Amino acid sequence: MTADDGLLLFSWRGCLFRVGERVQPPKAGSLFFCRYLPVRAGERVLEIGSGLGLASVLAARAGAHVVATDIVPEAVEAIRGNATLNGVSVDARLGDCYAPVRGERFDLICSNPPQMPTPSGRERSDAVAAADNGGVDGWRILDRVIDGAPEHLAPGGRLVFSIFAFLGRKRAFARLEAHALTPTVLATEVQAFPRIGYERLEHIRSLDVEGALAPGVPATVERLIVQGTRA
Ligand SMILES: C[S@@+](CC[C@H](N)C(=O)[O-])C[C@H]1O[C@@H](n2cnc3c(N)ncnc32)[C@H](O)[C@@H]1O
Repeated sequence: MTADDGLLLFSWRGCLFRVGERVQPPKAGSLFFCRYLPVRAGERVLEIGSGLGLASVLAARAGAHVVATDIVPEAVEAIRGNATLNGVSVDARLGDCYAPVRGERFDLICSNPPQMPTPSGRERSDAVAAADNGGVDGWRILDRVIDGAPEHLAPGGRLVFSIFAFLGRKRAFARLEAHALTPTVLATEVQAFPRIGYERLEHIRSLDVEGALAPGVPATVERLIVQGTRA
């Protein structure tokens, strides 16, 4: 960083976060995710794809023991810096999905993962794309987060994730049930339709088999916070 680069800060709930280079600033979906995250003091929490560490820092401040992962090295640095800035401890690890926590179990696994459907031939490899790109059908990371949950959840543990309604509430429930996780919706919220979605609206509409999108050019999108609980 040079003296002329500027410094982007985000302040929320009495905490201050530095938005580093190559790290996505918090969006409406980030705040929605944090508002409904059922964190309990003393629990072991894993956040996959923590970005600048917003949810992880707040969970640590609520008394949880938090491991936060991200695939972007600058995000891991940002998580560490933001934990220090707010006087909490977060174990930040670099790596893909569950790779940094092999053999470990948690009471709560949570993720606000990249889930924007990305038509083939439109993928990019930069950090901004890493924050958005959910693969062709939007489920690329979500599927892996769900697949890995049973072997990383403690008995009675919960997997909690955000999802665009157009990716399919029924599909999310079926995926959780297929892994013996009992599904519930913790919250729903209507948000502004993501700008990046307009350029690929026809592709998104072709995936919306449950009819969650408004007809025409939608101004809004519904998002869900879904929980799957292990017996
Ligand atoms: C939508 S952003 C969410 C960031 C933050 N949790 C929030 O709510 O603002 C998704 C994050 O997941 C990270 N990510 C993408 N692919 C990943 C993967 N395979 N494993 C771990 N993290 C990943 C991205 O770098 C990005 O920080």
